[in-house]
Amino acid sequence: MRRLVVTGGAGFIGSNFVHHVIEHTGDHVTVLDKLTYAGNLASLEGLPEDRFTFVRGDITDASVVDALVSEADAVVHYAAESHNDNSLHDPRPFLDTNIIGTYTLLEAARRHGTRFHHISTDEVYGDLELDDPERFSESTPYNPSSPYSSTKAGSDLLVRAWVRSFGVQATISNCSNNYGPYQHVEKFIPRQITNVIRGIRPKLYGAGENVRDWIHAEDHSSAVLTILDKGVIGETYLIGADGEKNNLEVVELILDLMGQPSDAYDHVTDRAGHDLRYAIDSTKLRSELGWSPKFRDFEAGLADTVRWYRDHESWWASAKDGVEAFYAAKGQ
Ligand code: NAD
Ligand code: TYD
Repeated sequence: MRRLVVTGGAGFIGSNFVHHVIEHTGDHVTVLDKLTYAGNLASLEGLPEDRFTFVRGDITDASVVDALVSEADAVVHYAAESHNDNSLHDPRPFLDTNIIGTYTLLEAARRHGTRFHHISTDEVYGDLELDDPERFSESTPYNPSSPYSSTKAGSDLLVRAWVRSFGVQATISNCSNNYGPYQHVEKFIPRQITNVIRGIRPKLYGAGENVRDWIHAEDHSSAVLTILDKGVIGETYLIGADGEKNNLEVVELILDLMGQPSDAYDHVTDRAGHDLRYAIDSTKLRSELGWSPKFRDFEAGLADTVRWYRDHESWWASAKDGVEAFYAAKGQ
């Protein structure tokens, strides 16, 4: 039985990964999570006690990290401050968790020779023009725009340096925008779905022309497990599912799936420095490691996600008013 430490496992993508690992492998999972506003233990309910342990702790705390990493066969590192809008409001926690937290984990992996997989984002590459025929690939130069993406870029570079200088057994993946169950209502898709449920009109930043490349969190999980099992040490793999859509199209789809008129949304103040377009070329992961996504129909995946938020109001209700007050204060 392989022993995995999953940092940030009470967050959106980390909790999807934990459920995926328990379902598809015989591994034991220890989640290390600080339970910030973004962590929710309810996302980990129902896991078998003999295969799963939860530890509340901070990845910047070297003694907690060392004790867990010393007993693990591999660390899968999801924990981060993850929301661009929050990083524009208060960047400091992004530096602490994304940079110092990753450094703390790398030092423990170095001491104990532990396999390390670092979860990152395509936002480290900056943005593309709407009509650019190129997509991001593993050789695209780093060019991050926001405090969030620049701290993620910094953490990726730390991992690369610890591989080269200290021989840490690490891989990196940079994934596009995720959607699916357990995503915090501050993020675009759950915010709009829960707005409609609450009788609030969806809020579109600027003209809504910004493009994101959507992937279901379940497909992100299967890709990470593939890299953990078959990835080459020191390599970076881009994860994407050919899901480019502009924000207006996504809002119109949500409105349609939820039985609302297609124009029942508001344009609100745009985000400062708003990246125009992200798009991933995941050829390396598909051709070298044989991965492919399961969710190929975005509308069907979105319909499942709408159903999940309708069925799990108790999971998100307590966060909703605070999130809307935060946005309202900024005209968003
Ligand atoms: P999230 O905000 O939903 O979850 C983050 C989790 O990390 C929470 O459970 C939180 O409590 C925990 N955490 C935060 N600071 C911590 C600390 N100092 N110590 C321990 N735990 C801490 O984030 P997410 O959307 O699930 O993203 C997870 C990872 O995936 C991040 O590294 C993010 O950069 C990356 N990523 C996200 C997306 C996306 O679309 N959301 C896309 C690509 C990559
Ligand atoms: P978000 O979910 O914050 O992810 P990211 O910034 O990492 O891409 O936002 C996705 C897109 O949706 C982004 O272009 C900003 C836009 N957006 C809105 O139009 N309205 C909203 O209420 C939010 C939260 C985001």
